[in-house]
Amino acid sequence: MHTTAVAGAIAVHGVSKWFSASDGSALQVLDNISLEVPAHSVVAILGASGCGKSTLLNIISGLVTPERGEIHINGVPAREFDDWRSVSYMFQEDRLLPWRTALRNVEFALEAGGMLRSERESRAREALKLVGLEAFADAFPYQLSGGMRSRVALARSLVLEPCILLMDEPFSRLDALTRAQMHEELLRIQQLKNMTIVFVTHDVEEAVVLADGVVVLAPRPGRVRELVAINLPRPRDTTQNATAQQAHHLKSLI
Ligand SMILES: Nc1ncnc2c1ncn2[C@@H]1O[C@H](COP(=O)(O)OP(=O)(O)O)[C@@H](O)[C@H]1O
Ligand SMILES: [Mg+2]
Repeated sequence: MHTTAVAGAIAVHGVSKWFSASDGSALQVLDNISLEVPAHSVVAILGASGCGKSTLLNIISGLVTPERGEIHINGVPAREFDDWRSVSYMFQEDRLLPWRTALRNVEFALEAGGMLRSERESRAREALKLVGLEAFADAFPYQLSGGMRSRVALARSLVLEPCILLMDEPFSRLDALTRAQMHEELLRIQQLKNMTIVFVTHDVEEAVVLADGVVVLAPRPGRVRELVAINLPRPRDTTQNATAQQAHHLKSLI
């Protein structure tokens, strides 16, 4: 398998991962996973709870090292890749600091970079504007709805202008209506910024509405059951026939 050296491309080659179980034995969590994420595409990793989705995303992000296989980013093996600032990770929980305003939470992502405070602040304001929250810059997390908190977390992931955005079930705690709004928002920003997005979900409809390609994982140990391309026009909604059919197919696989 070869990968073109394009900014934003990700390739996973034969990745296997073991964890130690509580009795000390080795538990295999991922088995020989291979997949490719073309630059500027949106790929979903779909599977039941516990099948290794978060572990796979952690491996792609460099947070976890696999026992076998390797990751390429922009065509370079992950261990030689030196631009991790261009890769953002949005966690399942929003992880906002309760004692900081929305603006200061977004700025937090810039604080390691030795940037001037005024520069940090103007970039953070830009990112809040991008997610439609400029009017709430001075609000604290407890003053924000779930959807707004999610937008702040998204702004914090975007403020470094990543080429690649990794997301672990980022909208799973939102109600259906707010989730649908976040999906629209995310696709708008993805188009605007031309990012590559890899996101983890157990929600078939989320995968089918957002993704260009879906990696369906089978459980224990996690392995690729099927790679499904989704070539449907956007915006999609699951009341459309073709979209519903794809969703039905994905459901049958997990
Ligand atoms: N650090 C760890 N140590 C031991 N086992 C782990 C660790 N992280 C995850 N696991 C186990 O690996 C399996 C897959 O976990 P995870 O990747 O979180 O799945 P998912 O995100 O699909 O729900 C689970 O059985 C989980 O208990
Ligand atoms: Mg998970």
